[in-house]
Amino acid sequence: MDGQRTAILSIDGTASIEFPVMSPTHGNDCVDIRSLGGKTGLFTYDSGFMSTASCKSRITYIDGDKGELLYRGYPIEQLAEHCSFLEVAYLLKNGELPDAGQKSEFEHTIRYHTMVHDQLTRFFSGFRRDAHPMAVMVGVVGALSAFYHDVTDFDDPAGRNNSFNRLVAKLPTIVAMAYKYNTGMPFNYPDNALDYTANFMQMMFGLPTEKYHPNPVLVRALDTIFTLHADHEQNASTSTVRLAGSSGANPFACISAGIACLWGPAHGGANEACLQMLEEIGDVSRVGEYIKRAKDKNDSFKLMGFGHRVYKNFDPRAKLMRKVCHDVLSELGLEDDRLFKLAMELEKIALEDPYFVDKKLYPNVDFYSGIVQKAIGIPTSMFTCIFALARTVGWMAQWEEMITDPEYKIGRPRQLYIGAPRRNVVPLGQRPLA
Ligand code: SDX
Repeated sequence: MDGQRTAILSIDGTASIEFPVMSPTHGNDCVDIRSLGGKTGLFTYDSGFMSTASCKSRITYIDGDKGELLYRGYPIEQLAEHCSFLEVAYLLKNGELPDAGQKSEFEHTIRYHTMVHDQLTRFFSGFRRDAHPMAVMVGVVGALSAFYHDVTDFDDPAGRNNSFNRLVAKLPTIVAMAYKYNTGMPFNYPDNALDYTANFMQMMFGLPTEKYHPNPVLVRALDTIFTLHADHEQNASTSTVRLAGSSGANPFACISAGIACLWGPAHGGANEACLQMLEEIGDVSRVGEYIKRAKDKNDSFKLMGFGHRVYKNFDPRAKLMRKVCHDVLSELGLEDDRLFKLAMELEKIALEDPYFVDKKLYPNVDFYSGIVQKAIGIPTSMFTCIFALARTVGWMAQWEEMITDPEYKIGRPRQLYIGAPRRNVVPLGQRPLA
């Protein structure tokens, strides 16, 4: 392979086999082992995909050591400061930031897709009022796949654009409906006079009895929170969406699968779990007790909002989220919020503890997001729904990249079988007693 870098594999002294090494724009080189099975009859074993690149992607890059996050090459810090969430959504899908005309056209398109089919409202009444909103989201977003049979050809860019626009536009409406249903309050319709995030807040907190006036500081804070959660390369829920989509499944159903995966407390459910943990700790005087538990191998307790598969430095989103948190609490006169003070003290103590330093466990995006969402008035049970609203943009961008990839195949991992050896069935009457 002229000039091509190669990895050489030799097993038990047998003849060595060469595999191409692929070089990225940024990040780790990859050994292309697609021919390993055919050449050697061997599989690689990588439970949890600690060392496996599942795809090529141009969308998001994370440098875990530097604590860097790029969306289409732009640092998250700059996007959070200079762009709206819809501009970031346009960027993630199309690869470039919109110009003024493109931005205005995209905002108009999204604005006029925010309503949901009126029959979708009936799905909510099948749930208990106290159903977890993420359970409702899995059901209702999945149900969208029963409504849009006008678009079934996803080889057609127009079909993909339509599905992207519908999901980005309708997720805020559905999240707000899940919240209203949970509280027993009537659903609010979208208000086309408001921008995307202000409209979401109106649907969440508005009442038919009075005009809702969104606080621009809180709107900007929530819009930034959406941007920080929009995409994150091949995390568990994005990989779920890609795998589901690789069979050709309906994109609305694939997003529902992503929501289901995100719900887990090890993933997007950590912001809800983190706030519950802070409430349980209650006071700075008890932080040491919980740090001790987090370090105890015999205790399954983990410090929610700490640690990350990729970041072995600060999650850059956590730093931005801490600032958003501070701005919101200042705007609301809550500078002395006890949970925020407790979180900052917990962060300080944890980052001085050798266990966390040695294992490079830093605060992640979920550590502060719960505090700021609670201050904005979003109930704890809704935190992961907010995460799902934002991540739908990344999921759909990654789904489209997957189905338009010339190398796209249905995802079908193999396994290391360690079960029973081949054996014959013994008829019931002849089976020995257990
Ligand atoms: C998100 O992948 C993404 O990109 C996800 C995400 C996104 O935007 O999509 O960034 C969003 O999911 C953020 C992560 C939110 N989860 C939490 O905050 C839950 C708490 N964190 C842990 O569950 C854990 O850190 C994970 C799941 C986030 C990462 O787990 P890994 O990479 O599989 O690491 P690990 O569990 O193998 O931990 C390595 C070591 C272990 O100790 P040893 O077995 O080596 O002795 O660190 C320990 C763990 O016990 N450890 C922790 C810890 N996290 C890891 N110990 C105490 N508290 C913690 N939080």
